[in-house]
Amino acid sequence: HPAARPHADLADRRVVISAGGTREPLDPVRFLGNRSTGHQGWALARAAVARGADVTLVAANVDLPAPDGVRVVPVETTAQLRAAVRAEAAAADVVVMAAAVADFRPVTRSDAKIKKSADGGPPTIELAENPDVLAELAHDRLRTGQVVVGFAAETGDAGGSVLDHGRAKAKRKGADLLVVNAVGDGRGFGPVGTEVVVLDAAGDEVATAAGTKDQVAGAVWDAVVDRLADVSG
Ligand code: CTP
Ligand code: CA
Repeated sequence: HPAARPHADLADRRVVISAGGTREPLDPVRFLGNRSTGHQGWALARAAVARGADVTLVAANVDLPAPDGVRVVPVETTAQLRAAVRAEAAAADVVVMAAAVADFRPVTRSDAKIKKSADGGPPTIELAENPDVLAELAHDRLRTGQVVVGFAAETGDAGGSVLDHGRAKAKRKGADLLVVNAVGDGRGFGPVGTEVVVLDAAGDEVATAAGTKDQVAGAVWDAVVDRLADVSG
């Protein structure tokens, strides 16, 4: 077992955590979105507050009460999430991208509700790719010494295992830490148990954790604290 951690090892650290899932509007009543609940981001926020951090949650469509002592900035779309995270990141020691960010958005948002047409058949929705907020943060380095953390839910497939996909993603994103978890078979979504591997930007394993989202959050902050100590010498 690792040595016991000092109580407030994130004291005086400013952290921003994105949580939930972004939604991209099609018309005034419809959107493209995902099933992310925000529970992992909330667990990260609670754990960081308990360890002394100043915490801001950028929350995309999360239906949970604000954790005690945390400032919550609500957003809906990826563009809003990106702007809010970057504004907060300018003064943050740590940025954690726990949100499920929509990869694509409809090119146009109809001002009026889209109607079925008698003869036209189903519409085709043209999509544009969203900016990769995490890769941008890792590349731009809005603040020196900042630790940038991403999350990746992966399934194994013919192209490789969960870890193969995680390693490739870690290298592609350039984040200091990428928390990889296996999903599918009922794992990973909602307030249920999960298993993660934490990789560095080279794709090398720096930690593993299993259990509740609170236990995963603890392991993530342990890895972040180690990385903060490295970057500040
Ligand atoms: N992410 C992001 N901006 C995007 C997409 C993802 O910041 N446009 C972040 C997520 O918040 C997460 C990490 O990148 O921290 C990994 O997300 P994931 O969806 O696994 O990565 P993608 O690059 O979108 O790859 P995939 O094709 O597997 O969806
Ligand atoms: Ca994605």
